[in-house]
Amino acid sequence: MDERRVALVTARVAAATDADLPPLMQALADVGLAPEAACWDDAAVDWSRYRLAVLRSPWDYVPRYEEFLEWLTRVEQMTTVLNRPEVVRWSTDKRYLRDLAADGVPVVPTTFFEPSDPRPQVHQLPAGLEGGSDLVVKPVVSAGSKDTMRHSSPSAALDHVHALLAAGRAVMVQPYQDAVDGYGETGLVYFDGIFSHAFRKGPILGRDAAPTDEFFAPEEIAARDPSAAERAAADVAIAASPPDLLYARVDLVPSADGAPVVLELELAEPSYFVSVAPESAGRFAECVAARLT
Ligand SMILES: Nc1ncnc2c1ncn2[C@@H]1O[C@H](COP(=O)(O)OP(=O)(O)O)[C@@H](O)[C@H]1O
Ligand SMILES: [Mg+2]
Repeated sequence: MDERRVALVTARVAAATDADLPPLMQALADVGLAPEAACWDDAAVDWSRYRLAVLRSPWDYVPRYEEFLEWLTRVEQMTTVLNRPEVVRWSTDKRYLRDLAADGVPVVPTTFFEPSDPRPQVHQLPAGLEGGSDLVVKPVVSAGSKDTMRHSSPSAALDHVHALLAAGRAVMVQPYQDAVDGYGETGLVYFDGIFSHAFRKGPILGRDAAPTDEFFAPEEIAARDPSAAERAAADVAIAASPPDLLYARVDLVPSADGAPVVLELELAEPSYFVSVAPESAGRFAECVAARLT
């Protein structure tokens, strides 16, 4: 086996759209590794040829979740998968927000519904924030804002919840965090537990707008210098996460009182948005190289 060979795991649908893939491949080559992009579901790939398989953009796992989890279990017998498969299993199901909250991490208040629960009633929905803000409904296994919608009407939100539950999907409901409309969300990227860079993501959900029918909802990304409060909140989320993460991303939004809270913790297949901090590719590559020594 070529000891330098590293797989960046992607998907056919993402190979052309994952903007991080080319700069990360280049940065890995620059530190003397032999990177290859490989699609997770490509039966022709022999995963045992790689020292390391780094999940990069296997972004079609959501509608194929069982198949993806089986793939993870199979491939971890053949090579080292990073982040570790047990972390990926935990982090691809947004019920991890419950675990973070139990550990004292400030998160967006979330109500969960399971397909096995009695049919939810409207009074079980969160009340929205003061002033009756909108409600966001999303499946607990979701990415790219797929099947996610912001509702101004509780009864429409409830219909959405029922439809997802009927499709066998566990569901979460959150008050829409109104500050997202102006300030946006802040994503903080860490490599080996060390803060690398941050970005702003603009608002995505229009009020009562149907969920995206694209593979991913379009995102508006820019560099952002995070506030001290954001750095501290993200550090708390990382400290409450499983140890030894090659990469991590914490997405924060301002809550009603302005304090940052976790919207999402991305330990499986996050975009790093290298373009907002080009030197971050080199930091990632150094961390990967260190895993091989
Ligand atoms: N509670 C919320 N308040 C405001 N915006 C939200 C909320 N939940 C989701 N969104 C919007 O929907 C997008 C997708 O939701 P998110 O929880 O990040 O899941 P994913 O990125 O995995 O699809 C976010 O980037 C944000 O714009
Ligand atoms: Mg997100």
